[in-house]
Amino acid sequence: MQLWKKYQEDNKERFLSELLDLLRMPSVSARSEHKQDMQRCAEAVKKSLLDAGADKAEIYSTKGHPVIYAEKIFDPSKPTVLVYGHYDVQPPDPLELWHSGPFDPVIKDGKIFARGSADDKGQFYMHVKAFETMVKTNSLPANVKFIIEGEEEIGSMHLGDFVKENRELLKADVILISDTAMISLDTPTIDVGVRGIVYVEIEVTGANRDLHSGVYGGAVANPITMLAHMITSLHDENNHINIPHFYDDVVEASSMERAELAKAPFNEEEYKNDLGVKEVWGEKGFSTNERTGIRPTLELNGIWGGYTGEGAKTVLPSKAYAKISCRLVPNQKSEKIEKLLVDHLHKIAPPYVQVKVTPLHGGEPYMTPVDSIEYKAAAKAIETTFGKPPIPVRGGGSIPITALFEQELGCKVVFLGFGLDSDNLHSPNEKFDLANFYKGIETIPYFHKYYAEMKQ
Ligand code: BES
Ligand code: MN
Ligand code: MN
Repeated sequence: MQLWKKYQEDNKERFLSELLDLLRMPSVSARSEHKQDMQRCAEAVKKSLLDAGADKAEIYSTKGHPVIYAEKIFDPSKPTVLVYGHYDVQPPDPLELWHSGPFDPVIKDGKIFARGSADDKGQFYMHVKAFETMVKTNSLPANVKFIIEGEEEIGSMHLGDFVKENRELLKADVILISDTAMISLDTPTIDVGVRGIVYVEIEVTGANRDLHSGVYGGAVANPITMLAHMITSLHDENNHINIPHFYDDVVEASSMERAELAKAPFNEEEYKNDLGVKEVWGEKGFSTNERTGIRPTLELNGIWGGYTGEGAKTVLPSKAYAKISCRLVPNQKSEKIEKLLVDHLHKIAPPYVQVKVTPLHGGEPYMTPVDSIEYKAAAKAIETTFGKPPIPVRGGGSIPITALFEQELGCKVVFLGFGLDSDNLHSPNEKFDLANFYKGIETIPYFHKYYAEMKQ
């Protein structure tokens, strides 16, 4: 559509400067000192939706951070697309590894460097600008609703209740999410799945206080050593997860699906070079892409205890801690895996220490069927603007609300992500390529158009 393209060309600079303003807000959901920034960011998102042409936009407070809802219903007989995104970001630390301030966006080599540039402000903002394009050129093919939340990066803890309490408000035919990545603009891909997650924290206690490691060491169990033993036992020699019944519900991908997934180009040497590792590591019998897509994993996300300050301190600590998460695939259920993990950690606890396990959050895996009109509309939109059809792949990350969306709203979710795996999500120097930002804005209206046509 020439009309869309022209509007976008004419407004290119403004689209970018608005996104940069949004990126300047430190909307870190995990940190209580940013509570005010979260509120300010929610207000900015609301304003951007009204400016883009929404009939109404509302901030809803929750027990946690606020949710923004907006809509434009121009013809109730037309299908409705519900766009989901998140305005919260991960903490920016370690700050010393950033080349520029995480909330002071800089454009270098055609990339926007800032926390949230790709995950997910830059990506949900593409939808705001695509929506503006369709409204201002009087060419909306479908009704549009937006739900932009502020707790995705901490597990969407309060969004589930909001969805359950507002089923009518959120009623739609499809949920569209740009919060995933593709291989490259030359090799467009669509994530047809995201993994589920279970996240726990473990606290191991030995003696009732820190002790002199010379006076007591060797005679009282060290909780760090005990925790280390427990952790190393969680994978076997083939790097399978060593928890009984962990794999019981895993749907093994068929050889056909595995062959299909293997079509996505992947260069292991480049992968290793990029990451600075000599060898890849993972579950025996599976390729790297399979390990991050169709297989569940168990990872340590943090471990601490004892003295970690400058210089030496001869202490036998009283406590040691770790954060552990598992990524889940269909048909694993987070509740069941959480129980397996918690019970297992208690079972393998050495008798010399006390173990306390606290679950932090969980979410289910989600798959979009490739034969659905939801997927087909997304694939056709990509083919229109990229000149080639996308390859379906499985994403390794999690978007915990997706399965609940389908369950409560009764419609499919489709992931139309425009980031790249190399965007440094959750890392220092997160970036989003300007080319991807603009390509996203160009592609999204076609999803609305094709979806409305296919749905009618
Ligand atoms: N956008 C990511 C999820 C993602 C990234 C999916 C890349 C597929 C490919 C999302 O913001 C995210 O980071 N989710 C968390 C969820 C967790 C905090 C519950 C994740 O995956 O760690
Ligand atoms: Mn995200
Ligand atoms: Mn994220």
